[in-house]
Amino acid sequence: MLKDQHHRNINYLRLSVTDKCNLRCFYCMPEEGIPFWKKSKVLSWEEMLRVCHLLTSNGVDKVRITGGEPFVRKDLMFFLSELATLPNAPEISLTTNATLITPYIDQLKSLGIKHINVSLDTLDKDRFLKITRRDDFETVYQNLNLLIAEGFNVKVNCVVMEGKNIEDLIPLAELSRSKNLSVRFLEEMPFNAQGGTPDLTWNYIKILNYLVNHFGEINKLKDPANATSLNYKVKGFTGSIGIIPSFSRTFCGSCNRMRLSANGDFRTCLYGSPAANLRDLLRSNISDQGLLKNIKQALANKPLDGYEADALSNEDIKDSMAYLGG
Ligand code: GTP
Ligand code: 5AD
Ligand code: SF4
Repeated sequence: MLKDQHHRNINYLRLSVTDKCNLRCFYCMPEEGIPFWKKSKVLSWEEMLRVCHLLTSNGVDKVRITGGEPFVRKDLMFFLSELATLPNAPEISLTTNATLITPYIDQLKSLGIKHINVSLDTLDKDRFLKITRRDDFETVYQNLNLLIAEGFNVKVNCVVMEGKNIEDLIPLAELSRSKNLSVRFLEEMPFNAQGGTPDLTWNYIKILNYLVNHFGEINKLKDPANATSLNYKVKGFTGSIGIIPSFSRTFCGSCNRMRLSANGDFRTCLYGSPAANLRDLLRSNISDQGLLKNIKQALANKPLDGYEADALSNEDIKDSMAYLGG
């Protein structure tokens, strides 16, 4: 089992398989995109598999595939089927914008992938276009319903933004009335490729008060270990509601995460600089033992929390979430 110096078990890899995305959510990147990594700088599927195999042989039992948008990358399904058939296959989950997933739903099911988180900030077609700069609301909403109908464990991620989608919070929460899903509201974070601090008018406390004000009785659920979200259920509703204090960072104490970006950057904290780059190591003649040593060294310096990580990295956050994988 991998541990950090704060005695936390690190058993969860978030793997960003590409920095590319077919949407342009304004809180993630500017309209013209970001300087996407050259193909030669991006880990091949084989390199990613090697790291995954090494980690799952050392106690990692959960791998979340993120991006950018994972389905933008060619042959994602090849990679997922290899990952799902590793000797110590992890639980595989995906975070996606659900624009491109339609043809893959059956195959995902047959690979035993059950957990899919869908990014969706609004139920209004025009606001969707304003936020994402692409006209894909209908596809996303259809796919969301399809995934639920097909029995996936679905969570919706909605970034809460003053002046952009506050009128959507109740309609989105209402999805959990009759649908078996979790609708989660996220604080905006600074990973927008442009810098600046997000407007945190809508911090997790205000979001909760707003929901309580509207729904009246709202029951706290027991949160799973290492959860990022505080989870609730409105009395009588089928699904649940969650709030993720991603900027307030109240859940760092139980953090079990490490991140590998598509270019090999290995981060022990979302808010920190890369602790290592695994690409050049993978492309040298390094043994698995050597690679593992580098990973353990990085984890030995995992910051206590996202505030410490931020302070240590000593620079303004100018990364896009598309590099970091959320
Ligand atoms: P589960 O695996 O279902 O627990 O999902 P998750 O919440 O870890 O994954 P998801 O990709 O859906 O992440 C949703 C959001 O949670 C991210 O966009 C972040 O806002 C937040 N989040 C996830 N991991 C971290 C983390 O390590 N630190 C911080 N600050 N926020 C995180
Ligand atoms: N702040 C908060 N959440 C963000 N995401 C992307 N960029 C940001 C940001 N700047 C969310 C996406 C996705 C998740 C992985 O991260 O909406 O659901
Ligand atoms: Fe873990 Fe850093 Fe996220 Fe806190 S901010 S939960 S320490 S990755």
